[in-house]
Amino acid sequence: MPSHNLPSTQTALVQTTYAQALEIKTIPTPEPLPGTAVVKILSAPVLSYAKQVYDGTRKYPYPTPFTPGTSAIGRIAALGSDSTALQIGQLVYVDCVMRSRDNPGDIFLLGLHQGASAGSKKLMTEIWRDGTWAEYCRVPLESVLPLNEARLMGELGYRVADLATIGQFLVVYGGLRDIGIQAGETVVVAPATGGFGGAAVVVALAMGASVIAMGRSETALAKLAGRFEGRVKTVQMTGDVAKDAEELKRASGGSINAVFDIPPPMAAKSTHLKSCIMAVNHGGRVSLMGGIYDDVPIPYQLVVHKDLSLKGKWMYGRNDMEIVIKMVESTVLKIGQLGGVKIVGDYTFEDWEEALNTADKYAGWGSSVAMRPSKK
Ligand SMILES: NC(=O)c1ccc[n+]([C@@H]2O[C@H](COP(=O)([O-])OP(=O)(O)OC[C@H]3O[C@@H](n4cnc5c(N)ncnc54)[C@H](OP(=O)(O)O)[C@@H]3O)[C@@H](O)[C@H]2O)c1
Repeated sequence: MPSHNLPSTQTALVQTTYAQALEIKTIPTPEPLPGTAVVKILSAPVLSYAKQVYDGTRKYPYPTPFTPGTSAIGRIAALGSDSTALQIGQLVYVDCVMRSRDNPGDIFLLGLHQGASAGSKKLMTEIWRDGTWAEYCRVPLESVLPLNEARLMGELGYRVADLATIGQFLVVYGGLRDIGIQAGETVVVAPATGGFGGAAVVVALAMGASVIAMGRSETALAKLAGRFEGRVKTVQMTGDVAKDAEELKRASGGSINAVFDIPPPMAAKSTHLKSCIMAVNHGGRVSLMGGIYDDVPIPYQLVVHKDLSLKGKWMYGRNDMEIVIKMVESTVLKIGQLGGVKIVGDYTFEDWEEALNTADKYAGWGSSVAMRPSKK
């Protein structure tokens, strides 16, 4: 007799062939093996560029057939026999950043990207193939973080789709913390008008920094800055490297401590990074988190003469997640609707195509799309 009440089968979205349409299928419900939890999925966010990933445009590597879907909010449905703290029914955040236990450098993103090493590819292909766009998802125990339901959903009034937006904030906290952002410092976020860019503005402010938001569209920048009552200055990217650098210095009032860079692949030829490197202080720190695949030229001599630190960062660590969850519980960081991110669509998995189209249409800061199983 199994020690749990999981149904033998479940409904899940499946992509059978790479870049082809997803399908709703009935598949076996995963068993709670030692070292794992099976989570009943309540809400899973849809990345603004999910359509470009799953239709093959972005050429993200992943094995098929598989169930897509990254981080999610859910409830513990079953636990491996070696779990000592999590409780059945507990509200949890399911994290998509998966690491090898015997080589944490082998890292991949559940339901999205198999990572860059032979080890990460092996883990996603052979063990952790299926993501969260399903009724139930099995993940390692360490990928599950308890949420204080009474505080978050009771006292603070978050809905599960709002809580599901926490992933955006976690990603950028990973990079901002990595370059040691401190209260009182000034950080340039570029570009700042995207989903992750806007989240970086919010998190940097919550960490006590002042922010200069950079972007191509004056209108989008004004809309973003308007939400923060004068705490965010803006600089438009004009493509004139020297002029943009001067504008950054002027906006900062003379001191820029750090730069947070999060461009999409299409921005490979953008000159904003060079302008930022020209404007940042001696000893400045630059976090590179963008999705750029091409080589990007950097002003080598300036990096040398200004003692700059350039740090790449993919995602975040477990401790970063614990801190961000505390920041949300304490209200120093507001996410979802409370933080100005409107849930513009909340679809069941059957309506996946509309969900991905809506997420694509509303890409940019301030909107989010969620998906959920049709059965409660
Ligand atoms: N390192 C990590 O762990 C990590 C994690 C998640 C995501 N990412 C990367 O972060 C990227 C950005 O995410 P997002 O959610 O902010 O994307 P998004 O919502 O699609 O926004 C894209 C942003 O890039 C700007 N942009 C687009 N084309 C540009 C160009 N040619 N030159 C300059 N700016 C341009 C947009 O500005 P406009 O308003 O002017 O269009 C907007 O600010 C993703 O594509 C992904 O690859 C990295």
